[in-house]
Amino acid sequence: MVEIIVDGEKFSVNEKGNLITELKKHNIEIPHFCYHEALGVSGNCRMCLIEVVGQKRPQIACDTPIKEGMEIKINSDLTRAVQRGILELEFINHPLDCPVCDQAGECDLQEYYMKFDKQDSQVSLADKVRKYKREDFGSGVIHDAERCVLCRRCVRFTQLCTNSYELAVGGRGEHSHIMLMNGKKIDNPYAGNIVDVCPVGAMTSADFRFKKRVWHLQKTPAICQGCERGCAIWVDSNKAKYQDSIIYRFRPRENSVNGYFICDYGRYSYKDEQIIKRDDSAKISALALDLRSNASKYDILVSSSLSIEEMSALKTLASKFNMGLYGFSDFRDESFQDEIGLKLRVPNKTANRIGLIKLGLDKNLDKKSSNLIIFHLGKDFEFASKFEFDNVIKIGSNQDADIVCASSYHRDGHTLNIDEKLRFSKGVFEPISPKICDIVSELMGQRVEFDINILKAFA
Ligand code: SF4
Ligand code: SF4
Ligand code: FES
Repeated sequence: MVEIIVDGEKFSVNEKGNLITELKKHNIEIPHFCYHEALGVSGNCRMCLIEVVGQKRPQIACDTPIKEGMEIKINSDLTRAVQRGILELEFINHPLDCPVCDQAGECDLQEYYMKFDKQDSQVSLADKVRKYKREDFGSGVIHDAERCVLCRRCVRFTQLCTNSYELAVGGRGEHSHIMLMNGKKIDNPYAGNIVDVCPVGAMTSADFRFKKRVWHLQKTPAICQGCERGCAIWVDSNKAKYQDSIIYRFRPRENSVNGYFICDYGRYSYKDEQIIKRDDSAKISALALDLRSNASKYDILVSSSLSIEEMSALKTLASKFNMGLYGFSDFRDESFQDEIGLKLRVPNKTANRIGLIKLGLDKNLDKKSSNLIIFHLGKDFEFASKFEFDNVIKIGSNQDADIVCASSYHRDGHTLNIDEKLRFSKGVFEPISPKICDIVSELMGQRVEFDINILKAFA
């Protein structure tokens, strides 16, 4: 660590780090477009120019080595003047269509303009260079060339992260634009991240476009349940007055497990996780009544999608009524694993296989069970078809279930990922359907308490 001076104040920073990232840790913002922590330095946008004491000209912060005692000025007249100059350049041909742009509210260009610029445009709309407004780039990515600031983050993502090289810069000068390499559409399982890395509204999501203004979205930190990598995500949802809550999108949440990205399978899995409105309380009461006298005729089968809390509640239920308890974790899909690129996706498509094993529940149902209660979440009910049984009660978070419960995104829960890392997912909003732990409590006739020491042992 070394000490540097920023606007007269001393800060301790890592001399091997990047100035933009290091100062961000101290809540100091240096505006930038092309630099991205996962994509490295490109040095093409010049938005990060700052005054460095002792240097004749402003320097780009993204590529200025950190040195002990160096002094920089973020709020000086010179720094502000170059920032305004770069923004003026960016706005020459920008269409200024913020009112209809999906990025509005989370657009770096819009934010920098409001913070550092606020000049009137010198170029009339009629004189601006016009480009494509909605080009289908494939894999759910729609490109608006007029809004592009040519930072090349998208191009570098396909080069450095997915090694798929689908994008390039074509044309010259003010006619430069992002294009599909050889006209071939984007085709990689991480394409949604291209929309995320774009700092402006030039790469938009076909799935999210025009659905909701981002400032109306509630952002909840959660864990993707798509596979046992357990990527950190933001669940963006909204609850309008007198209406049910709706999940609008999943986005990557920066984390040591998944870095800055998630896969498209996980990203769009939010569609399987909407609230199902159905009142199955009578069925729960009937089952609770039957368990009082006939519990031993039932076996319980647990999916590896359930959380540690849910699995542990089911262990308590089975032991109270002396029921057979089995688990199932074989949701393998070998084709889901990546050979190249980010390699986040792993073959087992449930979030808590390791948790199931650690809790001693990975015990395959090896007999013909006449009365089976299956607890499952999301789409994982397909596994049940592998078993023979006469009478099955499905308790799960999809339409096919006999008793509908809250999905994995509507309850708090822990899982253990493929590397045995404990992952915590926060429930997005109060579900309409009961959570699995509440159903278990009702079946038991008493509140089932979770032993926190179980988590401590896994932490
Ligand atoms: S489309 Fe977005 S990410 Fe790509 S170069 Fe343009 S502004 Fe940068
Ligand atoms: S890699 Fe797995 S956990 Fe990560 S986003 Fe994709 S499906 Fe979800
Ligand atoms: S962020 Fe430094 S030049 Fe673009």
